[in-house]
Amino acid sequence: MATLGAARAAGTARLAAAGVEDARRDAGLLLAAAAEVEPGTERAWPERPLTAEAQTRYDGYLRRREAREPVARILGRREFWSLSFELSEATLDPRADSETLVEALLERIGRRDRALRLLDLGTGSGCLLLALLAELPRAWGVGLDRSEAAAATARRNAEALGLAARSAFVVGDWAGALVSAGDGGGAGFDLIVSNPPYITRHELAGLAPEVGRYDPPAALDGGVDGLDAYRALAAALPVLLRPGGWAAVEIGAGQADSASAALVAGGLPSPVLLRDLAEHPRGLLFQAPAPAPAPAPAHAPIADKPL
Ligand SMILES: C[S@@+](CC[C@H](N)C(=O)[O-])C[C@H]1O[C@@H](n2cnc3c(N)ncnc32)[C@H](O)[C@@H]1O
Repeated sequence: MATLGAARAAGTARLAAAGVEDARRDAGLLLAAAAEVEPGTERAWPERPLTAEAQTRYDGYLRRREAREPVARILGRREFWSLSFELSEATLDPRADSETLVEALLERIGRRDRALRLLDLGTGSGCLLLALLAELPRAWGVGLDRSEAAAATARRNAEALGLAARSAFVVGDWAGALVSAGDGGGAGFDLIVSNPPYITRHELAGLAPEVGRYDPPAALDGGVDGLDAYRALAAALPVLLRPGGWAAVEIGAGQADSASAALVAGGLPSPVLLRDLAEHPRGLLFQAPAPAPAPAPAHAPIADKPL
């Protein structure tokens, strides 16, 4: 019977031969999932036997990885903000760079124990909204997506993370329905986050096999110039953001100026550019103007006279 140590070595060699960049790491993750053990068990206990069933599962996973399917797609899960998210065919595989948006909003929001209202436009797996809710214990949030299947996946993630009572997932075409429901005339949202599709049609054709083939096109396709979603968000964000509230929007490479111009055209103030860990421009951060202070009375108020 094969052992964990030998299986990892063999898997690493197979993946390396197929040109997988981090063959050793990926073989270890796939082996752990196939053998239903914690990642790293094969290092601590290399002589532990691998059952025939686990070996068959591992072979299947390795074949898929050799065909360049990402590990997260094979396992159906991705870690984001140290939380584990289920993926489905309808959801983007969340990218670690998107954590930049979560971090920026948390830095700006001040006290975290306030009853904040959050909105995530294009929620996918729900990763951005649920990461924020996990850090803001009294906050409540809505995740919106055009895909019913993505919203259902996000709902399951909220359940699994114990955040279902503070979240709702709805289906819609950007925020049109929320705007016409008049939310902007009510309290509005304290925080809005969005990672919209922003890849140009031209770039979509040339994406790496790991990207284009396994992420749903609706999560990537930003239209001819990549800016369709920003134009849609431009109309909604100023209406939906409460005075003094913050919005963080992810952008693609080279889009800092064009996405900013599209969003500012809708009435948002100039943004702050957010950079990811590699120092690449990754997002735009907006703060809605705070309400003007009430005008001071022209005369000192007259004190009530005692009867
Ligand atoms: C880049 S993915 C981001 C998913 C998730 N927020 C994340 O960061 O992993 C964009 C999401 O926007 C959704 N989307 C695309 N067009 C939309 C529209 N017109 N209205 C609402 N959501 C849309 C897609 O279904 C997809 O889930």
